[in-house]
Amino acid sequence: MLKTTKLSLNIVLPLLLVLWCIIAQAATQQEKTPDPFEQNRLLARGVNLGNALEARKEGQMGVVLEDKYFELIKNAGFNSVRIPVRWSAHALPEYPYTIEPAFFDRVDWAVKNTLDRNLRVVLNMHHYRELEENPEKHSKRFLELWQQIAEHYKNYPDSLLLEFLNEPCRKLDAEKWNLLAKQTLNLVRQSNPNRTIVIGPGNWNNLAYLDRLQLPEDDRNIIVTCHYYSPFNFTHQGASWVDADSDQWLGTTWTGTEEQKQDVIKDFDTIDAWAKKNNRPIYIGEFGAYSKADMPSRALWTDFVARQAEERNFNWAYWEFCAGFGIYDRKKNDWNHPLLNALIPPK
Ligand code: GLC
Repeated sequence: MLKTTKLSLNIVLPLLLVLWCIIAQAATQQEKTPDPFEQNRLLARGVNLGNALEARKEGQMGVVLEDKYFELIKNAGFNSVRIPVRWSAHALPEYPYTIEPAFFDRVDWAVKNTLDRNLRVVLNMHHYRELEENPEKHSKRFLELWQQIAEHYKNYPDSLLLEFLNEPCRKLDAEKWNLLAKQTLNLVRQSNPNRTIVIGPGNWNNLAYLDRLQLPEDDRNIIVTCHYYSPFNFTHQGASWVDADSDQWLGTTWTGTEEQKQDVIKDFDTIDAWAKKNNRPIYIGEFGAYSKADMPSRALWTDFVARQAEERNFNWAYWEFCAGFGIYDRKKNDWNHPLLNALIPPK
């Protein structure tokens, strides 16, 4: 009798201990998983450090990041920074696709400078052109790059968010993107179970593609991003990199007519309806009007779009800091005040 009790205790006690460990671990995990709506709220008002680390080589798109930019952004009243990064240009083309340590150092420097100022970071993968052109060939490399990035940042605080891919497009269509995003999430979750992830719909993060975006129901720690550049012939007039003849749009203004406002309102209502139905927080990760448009129009549009976003609890990042859409003029060493005031209205 005594022997049987002892035996069963020998079995039951370790089992109980294991069970307790599993429950405790699950509980801490749950405790540490941030609320994505709160994470999104904290992004609040942000700016993209564009045309810098998403160039093939920093500087080739006109911007080399400087220490003082982070200070300027903080002091102007922004809450977050989106850092676009062209990882694909800084990694081995063949397996094991190792990311250059010196490039990691450079990105780390930008991330640290941002976090040190109590600004939150959305770190993305930008301009992986080869993937957009040939998803079959490049998906494996994309996943291996994410494996390294996820591992590298796994111990960073909640204030670092990871965005899988800027503007999936071309041959990486909505269906292929759904599959690849899911695979990336499974992979990143192994090292970053509590990291808030940013994912946007196909066709250049277009709101019209939200309905085709499929996210795993059981992973709630995701923020959904859309980019907003409508009307395109206004925001991209004279932009040499777009497919259309954008010079013919030069001179297009945005004066905030009732019709122009209603177009924006309708778009934002569409996003909002999707967000409510799917219970996901929304981040407008890019919006902006190129410098070839006139400044009064740019300021009016920027103010209107930012306020429409805020009214719906979307948080945002303006495209971008100091290049062609810039809110900061590097030559004058001063803000483009109408744009800055549009983004962060003076009290
Ligand atoms: C997208 C592109 C970026 C471009 C911006 C505005 O983010 O990746 O290069 O400047 O949109 O067109």
